[in-house]
Amino acid sequence: MKHAIEVKNLKKSFKKSVFEKRKLVLKEISFQVPAGQTTGFVGNNGSGKTTSIKCCLEFIHRDSGDILFFGEKLSSQVKQKIGYLPERPYLYEFLTGMEFLKFHWQLSIGQFSKDFYEKAHQALKTVGLYEARDKRLREYSKGMLQRAGLAQALLHGPELIILDEPMSGLDPDGRLMVKDVLKEQKKKGVSLFFSSHLLQDMEELCENLVVIHHGEILYNGELQSFMAKFPNLEEAFRSRQKDAAL
Ligand SMILES: Nc1ncnc2c1ncn2[C@@H]1O[C@H](COP(=O)(O)OP(=O)(O)O)[C@@H](O)[C@H]1O
Ligand SMILES: [Mg+2]
Repeated sequence: MKHAIEVKNLKKSFKKSVFEKRKLVLKEISFQVPAGQTTGFVGNNGSGKTTSIKCCLEFIHRDSGDILFFGEKLSSQVKQKIGYLPERPYLYEFLTGMEFLKFHWQLSIGQFSKDFYEKAHQALKTVGLYEARDKRLREYSKGMLQRAGLAQALLHGPELIILDEPMSGLDPDGRLMVKDVLKEQKKKGVSLFFSSHLLQDMEELCENLVVIHHGEILYNGELQSFMAKFPNLEEAFRSRQKDAAL
């Protein structure tokens, strides 16, 4: 099977100050995200989800380990196949929706091309922001801001979209909207990898699951098999603690 992401023995530690010991946050983790499918990345707050994603995209340096996207190391060409929604995206409130997308296009694609308008209109329609495209982000509601973040992640038509907690802090309508957008991308065959601290966010959308706990991978496989074994995350964590006590 082809993998959209393959993480091998990823290790990451942080040192907060010269007085403190290095803290090991990712303990040589390995997992795979199949291409053309949706994979959930679930774990408690502080378990290492954001750090893993940042290491994969090389926003921060890893101590060791290998990461491949569609079988290749990250390069500027590979980056063009990837869309990314950060955990707390910074949205420039003085820009309009359209200007915000233009800004991101210039960051990710580099030079500006005519292609932009068609792609931007498409992305804004997909997330339901087309009518509000000339309003400043300052006037957007929280749900609309999340839509703008999503539009940015799908703007260039990526083959893989990585989203860090796309549903957190949203009301039920907002969550529904994010799920609908992800479902549409899924239908197009886009590979999706998204994190959440809630297993229930995964049930509707994911075929696969990666479960992380204190910087270790507890499970990487089909969601159905995991759910058949553990009704919820707490049970999985409890069973792990029992194993450790044996
Ligand atoms: N820049 C940093 N410096 C020091 N510790 C960090 C830094 N970033 C994250 N951590 C620590 O790494 C652990 C994992 O954090 P994170 O990856 O943000 O978890 P999650 O996204 O699963 O909530 C936490 O204990 C956090 O405090
Ligand atoms: Mg996080």
